[in-house]
Amino acid sequence: MAEKVFPISQEQLEKIIEKYPTPFHIYDEKAIRANLRRFKKAFDWAPEFREYFAVKALPNPRILQIVSEEGAGADCSSLPELVLADASGIHGEKIMLTSNDTPADEFQKAIELGAIINLDDISHIEYLEKNAGLPKVMSFRYNPGNLIEGNDIIGKPEEAKYGLTKEQMFEAYKIAMEKGVKRFGLHTMVISNETRLEGLLLNARIVFTLAAEISKQLGIKFEFINLGGGIGIPYRPEDTAVDLEALGEGVHKLYDEILVPAGLTNTAIAYESGRAITGPYGYLVSTVLHEKKTYKDYIGLDACMANLMRPAMYGSYHHMIIMGKENAPCDHVYDITGSLCENNDKFAIDRKMPKIDIGDRIVIFDTGAHGHAMGFNYNGKLRSAELLLREDGTVELIRRAETIEDYFATLYYDGSVLKK
Ligand SMILES: Cc1ncc(COP(=O)(O)O)c(C=O)c1O
Repeated sequence: MAEKVFPISQEQLEKIIEKYPTPFHIYDEKAIRANLRRFKKAFDWAPEFREYFAVKALPNPRILQIVSEEGAGADCSSLPELVLADASGIHGEKIMLTSNDTPADEFQKAIELGAIINLDDISHIEYLEKNAGLPKVMSFRYNPGNLIEGNDIIGKPEEAKYGLTKEQMFEAYKIAMEKGVKRFGLHTMVISNETRLEGLLLNARIVFTLAAEISKQLGIKFEFINLGGGIGIPYRPEDTAVDLEALGEGVHKLYDEILVPAGLTNTAIAYESGRAITGPYGYLVSTVLHEKKTYKDYIGLDACMANLMRPAMYGSYHHMIIMGKENAPCDHVYDITGSLCENNDKFAIDRKMPKIDIGDRIVIFDTGAHGHAMGFNYNGKLRSAELLLREDGTVELIRRAETIEDYFATLYYDGSVLKK
């Protein structure tokens, strides 16, 4: 069972709302720091442990500053994310570029910053060399394809657009070595929001096994093995959180079983987790605007899927509470909606909740990763503010809410007529 507790009292929340109107996301600094420390500690057996925080999960410089103070680097998937990481104080090989269908300017920026480049395809070696030059450290993303073992866990990697086939992996490292690259890592990510230990360990087994084979054949001493992101979080109260200590122990056993006999005794363990780092420590706070009773009971919020897309896009469950009614009986059933002209703009469907009244504050849990970041402006909706609940209990605005001026900023428009 995952405990779902909002770290802010009703009284404090009302004070925050006086200054920062809803909707907004608020992130819990103390919990993010504690979580990163725990993650690191679970791998303290490794020669080195690295977390390259997946910037796409929560691309805010203040958050990047916090994770970097806790020793993490940044995993970037675009040019703006590279710039953001660098501007947030994460430099050089603390930055990883894990991108796909990569444009030249992204590679150029990664080279300029001295980042590690993780290539998604064998053809990118030549493209990278031609357009940006080769980096000091590179890795390749492995797609294991049609595996017999564990298909219920990893689905069908052969259908995924990411990564290189096994044969291509050997060939790619050979080409890179011939071109003079000397320092290598290896990457895979065949899981997503995986909370089962067996799934997380299967991911490690797959990539460790390949690393041992490549090392034997090509003599590469991998500097790091990157187990990707994809560590899941308990979105539902009845879900079980990943036991990070058990994960650390399990990966340790695999390390000793597969890498050590292959002579890979000094290889760092890396992750590029996003969700598992900040996901549970973000909350979308919103106010009930309307109640509508037709064939169903609808509760309309001042937030919509532009603030949190996961429920509409993936049908994902996000837990929610009504402030002040945490212990009230869940004897009503509602669809909790946003205002987008899309019928899937629903944070919850047929959710059992206490009686909801207009003006209630609804807190939606687990929005700290792939939440605000996935926002968009469809229907002219403006993205909300982001706040940080600091360790000392004070609140800091770390991104203001968008304004109408922001919405028009990319248009040739002077406020009344379109500019020529
Ligand atoms: C390449 C890559 N790395 C890391 C992540 C982060 O995944 P998660 O937030 O689930 O850990 C993603 C997520 O989309 C990804 O595509």
